[in-house]
Parts: sequence; structure tokens; C-alpha cells
Amino acid sequence: MRIAIVGAGHVGLVSAATFAHIGHDVLATDSDETKLSVIRSGVAGFYEPGLQELMLEGTASGRLSFVDSVAEAVAGAAVAFICVGTPPRGGGAASLVAVEQSARAIGQAATGPLVVVEKSTVPAGTAERMRTILTRAGPDIEFHVVSNPEFLREGSAVADSLRPERILIGAESDEGLLAMREVYAPMIDAGVPLIETNVATAEVSKHAANAFLALKVSFINAVARVCENVGADVRDVAGLLGSDPRIGRAMLDAGIGFGGSCFHKDLQAFDQLAGSTGYDFPLLREVIRLNDQSVEAVVDRVEHLLWNLEGKRILLLGLAFKPGTDDVRFAPALELARRLIERGAHLVGHDPQANAAAKAEVPELEITDDVYRGAEGASCLILCTEWEEFTHLDFARLRVAVQDPYIVDGRNLLDEGAARAEGFTYVGIGRPLDLLPR
Ligand code: UGA
Repeated sequence: MRIAIVGAGHVGLVSAATFAHIGHDVLATDSDETKLSVIRSGVAGFYEPGLQELMLEGTASGRLSFVDSVAEAVAGAAVAFICVGTPPRGGGAASLVAVEQSARAIGQAATGPLVVVEKSTVPAGTAERMRTILTRAGPDIEFHVVSNPEFLREGSAVADSLRPERILIGAESDEGLLAMREVYAPMIDAGVPLIETNVATAEVSKHAANAFLALKVSFINAVARVCENVGADVRDVAGLLGSDPRIGRAMLDAGIGFGGSCFHKDLQAFDQLAGSTGYDFPLLREVIRLNDQSVEAVVDRVEHLLWNLEGKRILLLGLAFKPGTDDVRFAPALELARRLIERGAHLVGHDPQANAAAKAEVPELEITDDVYRGAEGASCLILCTEWEEFTHLDFARLRVAVQDPYIVDGRNLLDEGAARAEGFTYVGIGRPLDLLPR
């Protein structure tokens, strides 16, 4: 099947490589020429494990190509996926400018019947708008608009895309539905559950799914605050909650809050959408407030430990919003850095993948390629991202390097006993605080 992909970011590039892998002919494009030329050189342009290999497999097989324009991508295609960004704009609603531009370009370029798929996360009602734009741009063409939200996670996007937990298709016509079944036939045949519904339901489902996942994170972070106050351990509480299949253990790791481009954006966009339909949904705003509180709780903790922050050197271990990515959008580590810098501290950071991106976001942040050099003279180490390499830290070496022996483990990752054995005061998240110095 001939497939066009418009937008070669996290979702578009992974989808394009996946569709080529399962046997389709894929032509992908992006309005950003620099990004396209990087991709053409065989590089994804962002860190995502396994993606480069999958792209190379696709281009080597001849089934995956990158073209300069929407017109080239769409010519002869049976299905066109819109995978462009939908960033938040003032007020929190998603900006759908790129979606509109893509729909217009696809409408103008289409030469025969075309199924147009919204894969970007968009608010309910977008498909209707797209249909209007498409038919205005290509009045003689038969368009079928479909919603097919993506559920992949950064850091494991390739695995999620090749073996999705489910495929969601919202369609209003048999033509749209049949085309999508053909796109995903190898996965459906392999037993991946297929959920077919109408367009609005698919659109709402994606927002509801992300809002609920974010709610779980904020819930456990709020529970963590209570645990700290009463001497309980949130890790065991999460284990107990997770042992009930009605709750599930996933997304219940307490920490310094959720980041990434999706949760914040989608919570805000869902809130805006609900409000625009006359339904006030304050729970969504509370999820964001609690997330902000998770960062502030660490600032309070550090201030309590260090007494005065002015002039103190603080090392952040991990800057990406989660391990397995170089993405720092809404990264709690950077929010923490900004707040501590505001209070007069000198912030140093190290991340296995996200150093450059973090520096671009927070220029005052000193970047170090070496954790032990970064720790020299530090008054506190704060673990912000649970990269595997941080589980092998040499606390004896760190103890020699630092000025004051404080560790705040923002992801409950480190070996508390090993840190304490070398003389560190160790503070986790949602764990008894009775060992804090006063
Ligand atoms: C999220 C969803 O999980 C995907 O299903 C969805 O497709 C994607 O958004 C999207 O809409 O594109 P992602 O943002 O890549 O995926 O990452 P998650 O693994 O969900 O983590 C989000 C944030 O929550 C991270 O900052 C992570 O550190 C934090 N988190 C996650 C916790 O603090 N605790 C947890 O238990 C789990």
C-alpha cells in the first residue's frame, strides 16, 4: 500500500519506518528542510533507541523515502497520515495551524480518492475542520477522514510502534475503515487488538488516556507528600495499589513530576476542549498543579538541607524528561534548575543524551560530561532522571568530590544504603524524612 506521511517528528518518523517495516511503500515529508536533510543522511535528529536502524532498513529496502513536498508524498498514495506538531498556544489550547496547513496541502495535491488520517493528538472536532479544508482544497476528490491516535512512548517508541497494545481507529466511512485495516493488517493478523469507533470517540480517547496516566502520576506524588509526613514509604504504597488489577502498578512511581510534550499539552488542551463545550473539568487543572508541587517539594527539601542556597553548587543527575530520550520539553529537571537558580544556586547538570538540549533551554546551567568532575565542590546531588548508568555511581568517589554530602533522589533510584555507607545524607521521594538534619 502506498502511504504518505506529513510531518517527520517523533510520531511521523517512527510511524513511517514502522509502516515500511511491515511492507508498505512510504513517502514521508516535513516542512523543515534542515530536518529533512538530516533525516536523508540517515540520522533521526533526536535520540530514540532502535529508530535509526529501522529507518536504515526502510531506506535500504526502497520502501521508505523522504521527499521535499506534500505534493510528492501524496501523489499516488492511498492513505495520508498527518503527524505534525500541535504545540500549546496561549491559554493552553492546542495550536492546529500545522494540521490545517497540512490538510490544505494534501487537499491540493490529491489526485484520486484519499484516506486522510489524523495521527497527531488533536482535540475532538478537528476531523470535521479537516474535512472542510480538504474538500475546499480538492473539490473533485473523494476524501475519507480517519482518526488514528498514537500511543507510543518516547524512549520505547520503536517497540511500542512495532508491537502496539492496541490500534484505535475512528472512522465515519467504510472506505476509511477498510483502508486502515489494510494499513495495519500484519499487526492485526498477529493479534494486536483493534478498536473501531467513530472519529470523535477516538479523538477524546487519546486525550482521556493521557489525562488519566498523568492523573496517576500526580496522585502518587500527592500520596508521597503524605508518606513523608507520617513516616510511610510510597514505594510500598504503590506496590499495594498496583497489586489490585483494577488500579494497576504502571504510572505509580513517585518522583519529581511528569514532563514531556504530551501530558502537559494534552491536559491543557482537554481542559480547553471541555470548557469550550460548557463542561468545567477542574480535575485536569489540579493534576497540573500537583505536578508543579512535586518540583516545589524538591526545592523545599534542598533548601531545608542546605540552609542557604546562594552560591551553592548543585549537581543535577539527568536532564531529559525521562530516560531513553534527549527530549527536555517540560522536563522537571529543568524546571527545578530554573527555580534553584532563581534562589541564587549555581546549577550543574549531566545527562547521557540531553546535555545540548538542556543547555539551549537553560543557558545558565553549567553542563558537565563527567559526573565526578561535576560533583567537585557540590553541596547537593539531585537525581532527576532514572538513567540506568546512575545506578552504578561510585559514592566513595563522589563523597571525596563534594563539599556537602547531600543526595536527593528524585526518582527513588539509587542505592540508599551504599550512599549512606559513604557518609551521604540520602533523601528519597515519599519516604520517611526523620533522618533529615535540622
Ligand atoms: C505518553 C504516554 O505514556 C503515551 O501513551 C502517549 O502516546 C504519549 O504520551 C503521547 O501522547 O505521545 P511519554 O510522554 O513518552 O508518553 O512518556 P511516559 O512514559 O508516559 O512518561 C511521561 C512522564 O511521566 C515522564 O516524565 C515520566 O518520568 C513520568 N512518570 C511516568 C512518572 O513520574 N512516574 C511514573 O510512574 C511514570
